[in-house]
Amino acid sequence: MRIAVLTGGGDCPGLNAVIRAIVRRSVRDHHCEVIGYLEGWRGPLDNMVMPLTLQGTGGLIQRGGTILRTSRTNPFDFEKGPEKIIDSIKKHDIDALIAIGGEETCGIANRMYLEHHLNVVCVPKTIDNDLNATDFTFGFDTAVNIVTEALDRLHTTAESHNRVLVCEVMGRHAGWIACYGGIAGGADFILVPEKTYPLKEITDAIKKRHVRGKDFSILVVAEGAKLDENEPAEHEELNSVGQSKRGGVGERLAKLIEAETGYETRAMVLGHIQRGGTPTAFDRVLATRFGVHAADLVLEKNFGRMVSLSGSKITDVPIADAVDSLKTLDMDLYKVAEVFFG
Ligand code: F6P
Repeated sequence: MRIAVLTGGGDCPGLNAVIRAIVRRSVRDHHCEVIGYLEGWRGPLDNMVMPLTLQGTGGLIQRGGTILRTSRTNPFDFEKGPEKIIDSIKKHDIDALIAIGGEETCGIANRMYLEHHLNVVCVPKTIDNDLNATDFTFGFDTAVNIVTEALDRLHTTAESHNRVLVCEVMGRHAGWIACYGGIAGGADFILVPEKTYPLKEITDAIKKRHVRGKDFSILVVAEGAKLDENEPAEHEELNSVGQSKRGGVGERLAKLIEAETGYETRAMVLGHIQRGGTPTAFDRVLATRFGVHAADLVLEKNFGRMVSLSGSKITDVPIADAVDSLKTLDMDLYKVAEVFFG
């Protein structure tokens, strides 16, 4: 068989570990040939390919980013885009495509499968952990560990200066990174898109700490959190593909807290540090298991499926199950975080 692989959407630690696992399973164990399409769906649109060999994909397990590079290109936005994809697949004599990506990449794969009969299998990735039909995506654990380390470091400087520090983290429309990172890093308040707190409750919690003799506080705010249910959309900038570009909520919150409490308050944005660098051991293992299972699905000609983690087992589901809606934060987990507010 000839198999193609692409990585789409935002990069994420563990992508290279998936590529390595796919090649190992399909080339070494089943004598397939594998090629990589470069830069997500732009690769098959523009016929940009590279060979993926055992030699070339060795030693990749610890490498962040993606050797195939990535983009947010959507072929459905282009005149005859899907047809061009099918032409490229034929031109390179490809029997099946493995698309590694989040909601957008998998959504495109699902449409290509249903509307254009592309033999495709998906592997879910995103640091945001907001993809349905899988308990976790790889990349998330790494991002959470980065947030945790940042909060540990912010604690010592906040305490030394009697400051309130607000750490803004990624996650787009979901509060998974904020909630997990905030719990692990001992945050004194966590704001997520799934629940809006009145400012007074936040500042009362901080003041209570001061009364108890804790003259510093650490807050985590998800980039998609709102400070007011009726917040106007004017804060939303758009990125190159018209998606809302989040950010800025941490700075706004810090100003409000300082004005209301009189405590010196600073904000920091963790940003793309959360997506870069080496994957954690958990993400390396999850990515490797996903890659092997994706290769097995292709070898069985079991298309239109997405690999998935269910409990501790790797399984697979129809791609459609993952792309209908976003998996927002488990509010039972948030209730655990709330025990530590203030
Ligand atoms: O989906 C992953 C993610 O890092 C989000 O958490 C964030 O909102 C977005 O991508 C940022 O995208 P970009 O790198 O294109 O600015």
